[in-house]
Formats: sequence, structure tokens, C-alpha cells
Amino acid sequence: MKILILGSGAGGGYPQWNCNCKLCSGQRRGTLQACARTQSSIAVSPDGEQWLLLNASPDIGHQIRSNAALRPRGGLRGSPIRAVLLTDAQIDHATGLLSLREGPPIELYCTRSVFEDLSGALPILTTLEHYCGVHWHELPIDDGRREVELGIDGIAGLRLRALAIPGKAPPYSPRRKDAGVGDNIALLIEDTRTGQRVFYAPGLASVGEQELAWMREADCVMVDGTFWTEDEMIEAGLGRKCASDMGHLSQMGRCGQAGMIAALNTLGARRKLLIHINNSNPILDECSEERQTLARHGIEVAHDGLEIEL
Ligand code: MLT
Ligand code: MN
Ligand code: ZN
Repeated sequence: MKILILGSGAGGGYPQWNCNCKLCSGQRRGTLQACARTQSSIAVSPDGEQWLLLNASPDIGHQIRSNAALRPRGGLRGSPIRAVLLTDAQIDHATGLLSLREGPPIELYCTRSVFEDLSGALPILTTLEHYCGVHWHELPIDDGRREVELGIDGIAGLRLRALAIPGKAPPYSPRRKDAGVGDNIALLIEDTRTGQRVFYAPGLASVGEQELAWMREADCVMVDGTFWTEDEMIEAGLGRKCASDMGHLSQMGRCGQAGMIAALNTLGARRKLLIHINNSNPILDECSEERQTLARHGIEVAHDGLEIEL
């Protein structure tokens, strides 16, 4: 299976348009060794011909233009992107759907909670009915069902498991204060020919026994790399929210509890990558101590344009 990292940044990307913090301004001035990152999305394909988009970021136009595998081939109009699957209804993961309106109806895989947020509080899907329309494939994840197996129409050779994980509903959602099962999912994607598996969770609020069990099944793990510490936004004067307020487990954890690095250390996966990196995270600086710490633990930092073959 082929995995293309289209966007490795969190909401706002890197550098963020209005941010003059050390990391953003250093990247702009070229005084830091750090590459720019667009907002969170990856594409997966069993053969390099048919692609599944995991999340549709507001930077999708640029992402498709910069990845040859996703450009139209043959015919007057068309795209090798067969379907879009959403892990949640966050702005950085869903608003790119609007930029696909010139094509045929979008084959969209998401849970009922995500579908409802995107039809109600942020009515992207309702709006798209006036353009290309959306063909919804429900991922039936709810209180009664925390795990579901599925295939994607038009993409032979991929078997997916959608998994309910802890997280927050988006700030605009009526469930922001009380997220339900189905607001956030992770994916275990298997190439049925090779048996290789990737675990993908760009937003993951905590890692318990269940999450670890799923992650152990993967040859490649790609997880929430938003924040290094619980309060880095506050420390840097950039915001008032902690990582956990936003539904993200920081790499260092909080209040003496294990963070993402400790969780990843328990896994034997061949590749371990952080993705969805916020513009406040010191790991963006390739020469930082934090980046060396990750390297010592065998943890990579995903970057735009990275291709993984499993
Ligand atoms: C998040 O995952 O918390 C987001 O990146 C927030 C956003 O999109 O603004
Ligand atoms: Mn996000
Ligand atoms: Zn910044």
C-alpha cells in the first residue's frame, strides 16, 4: 500500500498566516531548519491508481496540485480520488470537501455524528447538495458499536477498521462539551495482498489499553503529534487552551501521566510517525532538542510530500 502525506500540519498549518512566534517567524526568515506544512490529510492506495483521501483539508487544492499521483489522468475531467473518509468534523479535516464540488457526487465515509455536524452546525454537506452532492456511506460507530470493518467502493485491496477513540467534538459542535462515541475515529487500514497495516489517528486524546491493542496490530503507526507539552500554547502566549482541552494527547503527557512518546515506546511497529503538528510544537525545528529526543525513541515527524510504501 502507498501512503502519501498531503498535509502534516494541524489547523492553521505552518507557518500560520497570522503568527509571529519564534517557530513561525524563524521558518519564514529561513533562520530555522523547518519545512512548511499544510493542513492535515493523507491519501492511501493499494496500487497507486485508486486513492482514498483521509480527511479533506482547506489546502486540498494545493495538495492535489503538488502530488502527481492525485492529478487527473486521461479523459477530459476525472480524478484518481475515489472516496473521502473523515476521522472527525474539525474544520481542518472537512472544509476541503467544498473544493471538490466541481466533480461527481463525493463518496463520503463518516460516522453519523460527523455527518450531522457537517449538515447542521457547519452545513458543508447541505451546501454541497447545490453543487456535486454527496453520497454518504455511514460508518456505524456509536454507543453500541465501537469498531466496524469496511471496504471502500471502487478501491479493491484495502480493508479498513474504523475505531472509536477518545477526543473532543469540534468547537462549533453542539456536543463540544460532551463528545460522544463517533465524534472521533481512528483507522486501521490493511493491504489485503500484503497484510501490511497502518494505524492513523491525527487526533487522539488519550491512549488506553484498547487504543494500544489496536496500535499493536499496525506495521506503521501515524498518530496525533499536535503538541509537545500540555500547555505549550499558553506558555508561548499563543492561546488559552491546553492540549487536553482540544482533545490532543501531547508527546510529554500531563500531570506526570504518560504521553504519546511513552505510548509509542511500548509498540514494536516498524515505523512510528507523528502527524498533525501544530505551529507551536518545538519538534518543527529539525535542530531542536525535542527532535533529538524523538529520534532517540525511533519516532519520525511526518512532513508534506512524504511517501510511505508498506
Ligand atoms: C484541532 O485538531 O484541534 C484543530 O487543528 C483545531 C482547528 O482546526 O482549528
Ligand atoms: Mn486539527
Ligand atoms: Zn506560530
